[in-house]
Amino acid sequence: MTIIMKPRDYDLQALWKPFTANRQFKAAPRIFVSARDMHYTTDDGRQVLDGTAGLWCVNAGHSRPRIVDAIKRQLDTMDYSPAFQMGHPGEFRVADLIRQLAPGDLDHVFFANSGSEAVDSALKIALAYHRARGEGHRNVLIGRERGYHGVGFGGISVGGIPANRKAYGSMLPRVDHLPHTHNPEKNAFSRGQPAWGAHLADDLETRIIALHDASNIAAVIVEPVAGSTGVLVPPKGYLERLRAICDKHGLLLIFDEVITGFGRTGRAFAAETFGVVPDMITFAKGVTNATIPLSGVIVRRQIYDTVINNAPPGMVELFHGYTYSGHPVATAAAEATLGLYHEEKLFDRAREIAPHFENAVHTLKGVPHVIDVRNFGLMAGIDLEPRPGKPGARAFDAFLRCFEQGVLTRVTGETIALSPPLIISRNQIDELVGAIAGVLRKLD
Ligand SMILES: Cc1ncc(COP(=O)(O)O)c(C=O)c1O
Repeated sequence: MTIIMKPRDYDLQALWKPFTANRQFKAAPRIFVSARDMHYTTDDGRQVLDGTAGLWCVNAGHSRPRIVDAIKRQLDTMDYSPAFQMGHPGEFRVADLIRQLAPGDLDHVFFANSGSEAVDSALKIALAYHRARGEGHRNVLIGRERGYHGVGFGGISVGGIPANRKAYGSMLPRVDHLPHTHNPEKNAFSRGQPAWGAHLADDLETRIIALHDASNIAAVIVEPVAGSTGVLVPPKGYLERLRAICDKHGLLLIFDEVITGFGRTGRAFAAETFGVVPDMITFAKGVTNATIPLSGVIVRRQIYDTVINNAPPGMVELFHGYTYSGHPVATAAAEATLGLYHEEKLFDRAREIAPHFENAVHTLKGVPHVIDVRNFGLMAGIDLEPRPGKPGARAFDAFLRCFEQGVLTRVTGETIALSPPLIISRNQIDELVGAIAGVLRKLD
């Protein structure tokens, strides 16, 4: 087939792209013009297999008609309804659906729009909760090195990615960080949860609580599987220990499930997969299959009741919210998405196909430049040996060549991250991993 390249009818210059090397991108842009199921189409007519579900978010595959139709219907019916002091049926229905998917007694849902906003909301709810209990002095927030919790000042404060913090001066003042759990010397090429490292959770008690005193600490926030920092899988027993220490000292435990939510680990939430119930879960991305922004926080009943019942009747209980919290078009998208996940049993599918995915990514052991492969559910991180003095350059080259070969990967630092839509077939997994192997064999 002859591909006719259309001239661009837009200029590249005015746009400032996020988390992108703008000059490099504009010199050789990569433009998608349409998407369907497992593939994108580029502006030069090439099909690209989506190995990353967009940005870890298109869990049911692209442009699914059921979701698209629901969005169109909602727009024909009601475009917007005020988030404050007014309601619409969709937001109650979706909160109820999410409640049913959540573990334990996490049964109240606060809506926001992005993962970053969900994180800020969760941190604020933690502070408001302790204050309502008469323990407003509990206001230290604990994150983790290498954690990613979005880009709000709350998220970068508890987050632990140096590049995301270094330009921005003051962070939230009362924050500390657990050590990250990544140790390639002990755990390289682990399949699933690594055996070594549960004791790293003890740092919460032996160093952080010892330093700040538990009576000052509000909450601990971690990604159950750290995604953006390169797919760091929690060591066996690690999350359980965090939970136990938080319980012992009255700290809230927040799981940031913006990536791990909605089937990525083979269950609705990683909390269920790991059998560890946090006090709050943040979610975003997959809740609408990335069609329309929607995010939120799921909180335990006791947290909701405490904050609500502490305010005088008739008064706003939590001075927090967004114009688009529970936007009707977003909740219509979420309702259709959650229906699709249920009908197509996509979380089960992710669980069933995960062993094939695991075997496939581990065939990269021994391929040139590969120094670690790790995986959990439908997430994998493949670490490349960096080129001397050029951090990230080899991995970025690999990303570009994979794109030329027709597969979309994601690169963070020296790690190629994979997180395909949960509908990926076995053959497509083999195609994705085969393309990466082919690229790495030719890469200097
Ligand atoms: C764990 C986690 N939290 C928060 C965010 C931020 O989400 P957003 O980019 O929608 O603000 C992300 C984004 O990747 C994430 O992975």
